[in-house]
Amino acid sequence: MNDRSTNDSSDRDERDDRLTTPWGEHVLSRFPEDPRDRLRAWDASDEYLLGHLAEREIPLDGTVVVVGDRWGALVTALAAHRPVQITDSHLTREATRRNLERSGAEPGSVRLLTTQDPPPDRVDVLLVRVPKSLALLEDQLLRLAPSLHGGTVVVGTGMVKEIHTSTLRLFERIVGPTRTSLAVKKARLIFAEPDPALKRPINPWPLGYRLPDDVGPLAGRPVVNHAGVFCADRLDIGTRFFLQHLPEPGDFRRVVDLGCGNGVVGTAVALADPNAELLFTDESFQAVASARETYRANEIAGQAEFRVGDGLAGVPDGSVDLVLNNPPFHSHQATTDATAWRMFTGARRVLRPGGELWVVGNRHLGYHVKLRRLFGNSRLVAGDRKFVVLRAVKE
Ligand SMILES: C[S@@+](CC[C@H](N)C(=O)[O-])C[C@H]1O[C@@H](n2cnc3c(N)ncnc32)[C@H](O)[C@@H]1O
Repeated sequence: MNDRSTNDSSDRDERDDRLTTPWGEHVLSRFPEDPRDRLRAWDASDEYLLGHLAEREIPLDGTVVVVGDRWGALVTALAAHRPVQITDSHLTREATRRNLERSGAEPGSVRLLTTQDPPPDRVDVLLVRVPKSLALLEDQLLRLAPSLHGGTVVVGTGMVKEIHTSTLRLFERIVGPTRTSLAVKKARLIFAEPDPALKRPINPWPLGYRLPDDVGPLAGRPVVNHAGVFCADRLDIGTRFFLQHLPEPGDFRRVVDLGCGNGVVGTAVALADPNAELLFTDESFQAVASARETYRANEIAGQAEFRVGDGLAGVPDGSVDLVLNNPPFHSHQATTDATAWRMFTGARRVLRPGGELWVVGNRHLGYHVKLRRLFGNSRLVAGDRKFVVLRAVKE
């Protein structure tokens, strides 16, 4: 069946930004706001979870922790219970801040933590919006498990297509006996009963591995990956192609690894040219932590800064010589095209005249069209059947 013909409230022709909950009505938006974006800041799985908590009169006493809230809909609705939000995403935090403010929530009523912060010592209610990445869920549950007790209420939620047997197995292995609800509007709830006697697996994250031999200065070098980072357990084939076709060392001083993931691209530049000054930036806290650790593991003597943020926001105009970018192509945060376009626009702004943007992408994505529109030029550096590396110069 075509998804658009169903009741999935995240995807309708006319966007109505009001979410009605048992705790009141809230006007919610994603971040960054895009009036052309037809997607709402919540979906049926958020509504199902909130409805369940109210109908069953689940006591929201003690410490309520919300993990994986996409745009802050859950913590905004539950703000009166002073929840703690834990997220990997800078965009989620920014959306949450704005949604809380717009809904008139008392300042400070929601504690905003990142996946890199230590979790609260005791958790009485744990609400989990199932993330796209099973690895991130595994890491989150393992980090939170010592804070759960026999009486902790654990409820997960997600769209049916996001909840797999492997998802339920994780709850079973890390929390305790797990069952699911019936599906409502293509969403499902997960109920897990904490078992204090459960022997939990050791957390495998962060995960390190060594790079293959065909990636220039990075051959055989270590990479560190926190859970949920792009291609966390192996080198992506597009990234590999990029590493084989990076600019010659020595030509650029101030270099940005934009959307750095585990930081392999910027680390390769830093290894090849000790005078390069690197900025590693990503909207994921897990990614920036990985990039910092990858850089450190390679014992590089140069200068580097690590920053969590939206694209190149906050980087001064005309301050950069080279931007390297492998744009995201699957993202729950925005449509791919929109993020790539914002990244390229940001690159043009921060580059000095004569500065260069190098991009790797799937050939079929046609990034050269965007680059030509923005920069007035785009040259093919290298290409194979699947990928192209493109170079645009700021005039
Ligand atoms: C395709 S991955 C590339 C990762 C790494 N550079 C590589 O080549 O292996 C794209 C990265 O962009 C990041 N990203 C997505 N949206 C972003 C945004 N708005 N601002 C900064 N980074 C973003 C993702 O978190 C992800 O790490």
